[in-house]
Amino acid sequence: MSYLSQVKASLLTETIYEIDESKKVLLDVNKKLLQQKDIIEHQVRLLNEKNKELRAFSHSVSHDLQGPIRRIEGFTKILLEDYKDKLDENAVEHLWRIYNAAEDMAEMIRAILRLGKVSFHQLALQEVNLSELAARIIQQLRQDEPDRKVEAAIKPDMRVKGDKTLLEMMLQNLLANAWKFTSKVSPAVIEFGEKIIDDKRTFYVKDNGVGFNAQQTNKLFKEFSRLHGKEEFAGTGIGLAIAYRIIIRHGGEIWAEGSKNQGAVFYFQLHRNIESFLQLNDTIARSTNA
Ligand SMILES: Nc1ncnc2c1ncn2[C@@H]1O[C@H](COP(=O)(O)OP(=O)(O)OP(=O)(O)O)[C@@H](O)[C@H]1O
Ligand SMILES: [Mg+2]
Repeated sequence: MSYLSQVKASLLTETIYEIDESKKVLLDVNKKLLQQKDIIEHQVRLLNEKNKELRAFSHSVSHDLQGPIRRIEGFTKILLEDYKDKLDENAVEHLWRIYNAAEDMAEMIRAILRLGKVSFHQLALQEVNLSELAARIIQQLRQDEPDRKVEAAIKPDMRVKGDKTLLEMMLQNLLANAWKFTSKVSPAVIEFGEKIIDDKRTFYVKDNGVGFNAQQTNKLFKEFSRLHGKEEFAGTGIGLAIAYRIIIRHGGEIWAEGSKNQGAVFYFQLHRNIESFLQLNDTIARSTNA
């Protein structure tokens, strides 16, 4: 064999050896990836199971609690109405406290059930005109409180793809908040518009109301969390938790900016490609038998 042929042969042997080594490394990586996929799938399945259990638990607890609470409300009312003359002032006051607490609890249970409905709701995608929905909601709010002076500016024809029922519910909560928390200013100004933030289409509901302490922004979207007292503004503290879940189900984000007595702005984005986002969710759910 010539010297050149010998060099070529040894180079070839070396290359084959390197290919073999790379193949081994690739096989090893592949094996590890498959193992990790198995672990992740197993964990998703466990999480899904836990989720189902939790949902069923909170649903049945909420349902089962409704009966006893209604009885407490009912019998307290009977005592207040039929035995009023036999009770002293102190006892009547205590009974009213029991009655109001039972009412609060009943409202909280209804709120938990509403929250559950948002999670269970099967998303149906369609084109949704957010401007039209908002105009209708504002019209309704005006009808309920015709004496309020509220200037509402809605950018026309803001269309998105999403679930109409849920998006309407989300807007209802944001606009009702803007309406409620501007009740001490006149005229109240509410704006619903859109702009681009971080390259993404971003909608916002802005008001000139009482605003909130900026340091407490992280509490806004938690269930039953309220930054204003009940005596000042009525409410359960569930509206924004519902809005949050709706936006998460649309693969988007929601956040707020505000400061005390300087009004508030609530921003939200939906997923850029909602169809592929839902398809991906669906594939993951099916592959893990959710
Ligand atoms: N536009 C706003 N301006 C100022 N504070 C707001 C505004 N929107 C929400 N908040 C604050 O966030 C809290 C939570 O809002 P959320 O809508 O969840 O509850 P709520 O309006 O108090 O009650 P609910 O919506 O259940 O009737 C409110 O209690 C309020 O403190
Ligand atoms: Mg609200």
